[in-house]
Formats: sequence, structure tokens, C-alpha cells
Amino acid sequence: MKADVLLGLQWGDEGKGKIVDVLTPKYDVITRFQGGPNAGHTLEFNNIKQVLHTIPSGIFRENKINIIGNGVVIDPIVFKKEIEALKKIGVELSQNLYISKKAHLILPTHRILDAASEQQKGETKIGSTLKGIGPTYKDKIGREGLRVGDLLHNFGTKYQERVENHKNLLSEFYHFDYKQILSECEQDWFEGIEVLKSFQIVDTEHFINDLLKKNKSVLAEGAQGTLLDIDFGSYPFVTSSNTICAGACTGLGLAPQKIGKVLGIFKAYCTRVGMGPFPTELHDETGKKLRDAGNEYGSTTGRPRRCGWLDLVALKYSVMLNGVTELIMMKADVLDSFETIKVCVGYEIGGEVIEHFPFELTDDVKPVYVELPGWETDLTKIKSQDDFPEELNKYISFIEDEMGIPVSIASVGPNREQTIFLE
Ligand code: GDP
Ligand code: IMO
Ligand code: MG
Repeated sequence: MKADVLLGLQWGDEGKGKIVDVLTPKYDVITRFQGGPNAGHTLEFNNIKQVLHTIPSGIFRENKINIIGNGVVIDPIVFKKEIEALKKIGVELSQNLYISKKAHLILPTHRILDAASEQQKGETKIGSTLKGIGPTYKDKIGREGLRVGDLLHNFGTKYQERVENHKNLLSEFYHFDYKQILSECEQDWFEGIEVLKSFQIVDTEHFINDLLKKNKSVLAEGAQGTLLDIDFGSYPFVTSSNTICAGACTGLGLAPQKIGKVLGIFKAYCTRVGMGPFPTELHDETGKKLRDAGNEYGSTTGRPRRCGWLDLVALKYSVMLNGVTELIMMKADVLDSFETIKVCVGYEIGGEVIEHFPFELTDDVKPVYVELPGWETDLTKIKSQDDFPEELNKYISFIEDEMGIPVSIASVGPNREQTIFLE
């Protein structure tokens, strides 16, 4: 068996959580391979609305194995909160959640360092989620991180050493007053560690490869989006991990030939939260209309998301980087009341039109648009593609033709049920 991968093709929040939950019945194993609690994946069904940060979005389906892979960074405080919130609604995870020994830990000081770094950057800040992601991956790459497996041997000393180093950095380099924040959250963090230790901490690279050998089907759930990838995103306004398909290999211990289908998920328009370039961003009433209709506020931070038209230049780039085999289009219903819909098919830079994603996206990039007719129909109650308005079919065909791959699912609302599988 091979592992399928589902990942975001834009700047995150494409609706990954919803679709992983919808697809989970077809799989035996769901796994996260990168990112951490900067992710906010929303699931809605049976009057439940749940946002997951660390835990794979397969956990609401019974008898599934959920794995947090080595590429993920875990904050015990967030993890504990998540586990408690799930327990409250009757989801018990101790038997079906496995955590990699090699996943890195977000220490309380990593979070403080994130805040200190953003404060020092001022105007040029990344707009991070302040979850400690950058500093934790920095320590990982700098070969100084602490891993979940370290909890099993002499952890106290390793923790103190690392935290002392961070404290020096905070006071000497950032001149950041960390003492109160640290004293407020350290106990919580150690309580989180106890919760973490009560789960099955294993060598997930062996575990997952063995599962594949036993013919179990695996779905890997991406976090963030391709345009936030550390190598290929709009650097430096990116996150600190490889969000692309290759990240599933390094973040799980899967050889490239073990990757099966690559499901690329995108919104019928585009959003971004945090700083950085966004060529099709709309600063006008249309942008506001998209935000209102799509309820575009961050699932993790509550920040209003920046909104704009679908960008096919960026989408093509993402399809290429990930080797996407099929597309999933989300939030079509958000465009229900638009008379016409614009789609960006090129970037004009200094009088020249390019169709590839450039090294640097500056404010000089002007999107070149094609305008398509809107469907002006309520899609939210539609159950089958047979009832799709003509204009929606044309919108989908236009994207398929431009990308050269099929759209296999169109989503018409946040609920599990509002998902249409296309012929
Ligand atoms: P993720 O990070 O990719 O999992 O996406 P988020 O959960 O952060 O953001 C997606 C938001 O859109 C959530 O609030 C979902 O409930 C919602 N959503 C998902 N699919 C649809 C859809 O087809 N239509 C509408 N209107 N909302 C959707
Ligand atoms: P999901 O998985 C949208 C953005 C932040 C910021 C940049 C760096 O829900 O799609 P970080 O905290 O990672 O150092 O922030 O990345 N960002 C996201 N934007 N959705 C996410 O996750 C994001 N995770 C990080 O806003 O611009
Ligand atoms: Mg999200």
C-alpha cells in the first residue's frame, strides 16, 4: 500500500480538516507530518464544531489509528487542552493516538522567543501565530531541540539546559521581560507533559511502514499551505517547515515511492492571514464581502483573514511542487452571490506578463484577470453535481483545463454533509 497525502495549495485554511474528516472512513490511518499548533483545522458535523491544532482530523471516526509524526512540533499545553476538550464531547484517544519519539517539543521559552522576535522585527514582522513554531524548528535544525523521546530519560536536566540558554537569549539579545510569563505557564507545561506521556510514544517511522506493509491505507494530513512552505513559499513570510508533499516523506519516514495519491485542496477564492505578499488581495468592498460570506477569521488566532480572487499562477506552482493528482475545491458557496468572478491567470511585472511564480513577489505585481460569470444560486443545500448551476460547472472546468488535472470534490458548506463528489 501507499500513503495518500492531502495538502493545502494556498496560504493555509483551505479546509483541510473538513475534508480529512470526510475522507477518513476510506482510510485506516490518519497522520500529521509537519507544523504544530499554528494549525487550526475545523470540523463540523452533528452540531459539533471542533478546531484541532495538533491532533489529526481522523479522530472523530471510530476504529482509526491516528499518528503524530516526527515532523510535527508539539506544545504540551495546547495538546492537553485539546485532549480535555475532546474528552468532554466523549472522544477518548488513549488507545488510538500514537506520537513519534522524534517529534520536537515546543518549550514555554520557544513561545516567548517567538513573541520577542516578532516584537523586535516591528514593521517587518512575519505575523506569526505566536505559538513558538519558528524558534522550535530553529532549535531542531540547530541540533539543539528536545524531542518527545527525551521525556523518557533524564529530561529535567536537558530541559533546564535549554531553558537557561533561551533565558540568556531573551534577556541579552531581545531585552525581553520573560519572567512573569514563564512562571505563569511552566507548571501548565509540565502538566501537559504528563498528559503527553500517557499516550503511546513510539518509533512512528517503523509503525507507519509496518502498517503499509500490512495493507493498511494511510492518509497524511498537511498543515499550513504550499505558499507557506519554508523553501518554496513567499519567504520570509512563511512557516518554518516543509508543507509540500516531500514534507510527508521526511515528516513520517516514508520513502518517496510510498506516496500514492496527492490531493491538493484550495478555496474557490484565496485568503491569507499574517504578513507577506498576496497579489490578488482585495482591499475593497469585494474583499470584505468575501470575508463576511466565508467567515474568514483565523481558526487559531481569530485574526481577520485577508481575502482575494483565486490565483491560478500560484495554484499551478503548488500543483507542480506537490505532484497533485486531483484537486479539491472548497467554499464554492462563498461565491454564491457574485454576478461575476475573477480568476488570476498571469502576473504583470514592469509591463511584462509572466505565468510562473517569481522569486520575489512585490507590490509591483499586477494580477491579470479572466472574468467568469457567477452562478448567483444558493449551493449550500445541493446534494449532487446534477444540480450544479451551469456557471459553476464552467468555473470548475476552467480550473481543470488550466491545471491539467481533475477536481474530484467540491465543497458547498462547512458541514461534513455539504461535500459533493464529482464525476
Ligand atoms: P484548515 O486549516 O485548512 O483545516 O481550514 P480552517 O478550518 O482553518 O478554515 C476553513 C474554514 O472554512 C472553517 O471555518 C470551516 O468550517 C469552513 N469551511 C470548510 N469548508 C467550507 C465550505 O465549503 N463552505 C464554507 N462556507 N465554509 C467551509
Ligand atoms: P492551517 O493548518 C494559515 C501563517 C501565519 C504567519 C506565518 C508564520 O490552519 O492552514 P508561524 O506561526 O507558523 O510561525 O507563522 O504562517 N500560518 C498560517 N496561516 N493557516 C495556518 O495553518 C497557518 N499556520 C501558520 O499566519 O503568516
Ligand atoms: Mg486553519
